[in-house]
Amino acid sequence: MKIGLLTSGGDCPGLNAVIRGAVLNGVKTYDDEFVGFRDGWRGVVEGDIMDLPRTKVRGLARTGGTILGTSRTNPFDGPHGGPENISIVLERHQVDAIVAIGGEGTLAGAKRLADAGLPVVGVPKTIDNDLQATDYTFGFDTAVSIATDAMDRLRTTGESHHRCMVAEVMGRHVGWIALHSGMSAGAHAVLIPEQQVPMSQVAEWVKEVHDRGRAPLVVVAEGFIPEGFDEVLHEKGTEKDGRPRLGGIGEYVTEEIERLTGIETRNTTLGHIQRGGAPTGFDRVLATRFGMAVVDMIHDKEWGRMVALKGTDVVRVEFAEALNNLKSVPQARWDEAKVLFGR
Ligand code: F6P
Repeated sequence: MKIGLLTSGGDCPGLNAVIRGAVLNGVKTYDDEFVGFRDGWRGVVEGDIMDLPRTKVRGLARTGGTILGTSRTNPFDGPHGGPENISIVLERHQVDAIVAIGGEGTLAGAKRLADAGLPVVGVPKTIDNDLQATDYTFGFDTAVSIATDAMDRLRTTGESHHRCMVAEVMGRHVGWIALHSGMSAGAHAVLIPEQQVPMSQVAEWVKEVHDRGRAPLVVVAEGFIPEGFDEVLHEKGTEKDGRPRLGGIGEYVTEEIERLTGIETRNTTLGHIQRGGAPTGFDRVLATRFGMAVVDMIHDKEWGRMVALKGTDVVRVEFAEALNNLKSVPQARWDEAKVLFGR
């Protein structure tokens, strides 16, 4: 078979490991041929394709980014979008199946194409870990590790100056990166979108920690909505598709802590550093397994499905299962973490 791979949406450590896993399994087990579509769905609708022989994926599991490039192009937009035109591109290049490696938006596009009868399957990816139907997505562990390392550093400088340090992390509308990195770094408060905490409570936690001689560390997810606000604070405008461009809540939280406690406070927004560089060992393994498994799924002609992690098993699920709603942090995980806040 000739299989076309694409990576779409925000990049994520582990994308290259998926590509390598797919190519190695396809070449070694089935004698498949591979091509890559450049820059996500743009490469599909415009027929912008590169060959992906085995030699191209050498040593790729340890590298960040994606050798295929990515974009947020919607496969239904533009003069060449839509299933009819995409079928023509696939026929012209004799591609038998598309593997869409992406998050919610990418998989929603993949589902619509599969529903229209195209041979499309998926691999879930996001550092945010917000997709239903899979226990973990690769990239999340790397983001948590990078954020933890940054927070360890913030804690040492914070202790020297007896300051409160605020770290803003990514995660869009869920708090998984904040919860895990905050717990891992020993944060004294973690603020997540799923919980509307009043700033007076945050100030109380910070004061308690400061009063016992420690430099408080507050972790805030970019999608956190403080009590009294109706929606997420975003001053950076919106994306082309209307989604808010998040980031900036850390500054607000910092100013409020300083105003309410009088303790000198500094903000650090970690931003895209969380998505860059080499994947962790966990993410390399998960991404490699996903890449290998999706090729097996193609040979079983299970179109309209994606691979997912359940416990330690890689399984196959319908696209729809991942797209129902976001996988948010459950109340029990927040209650558990909260015991560690403040005093
Ligand atoms: O979904 C992954 C993510 O990194 C989010 O955590 C973040 O809000 C967003 O992408 C940033 O997107 P961009 O790279 O377009 O700025």
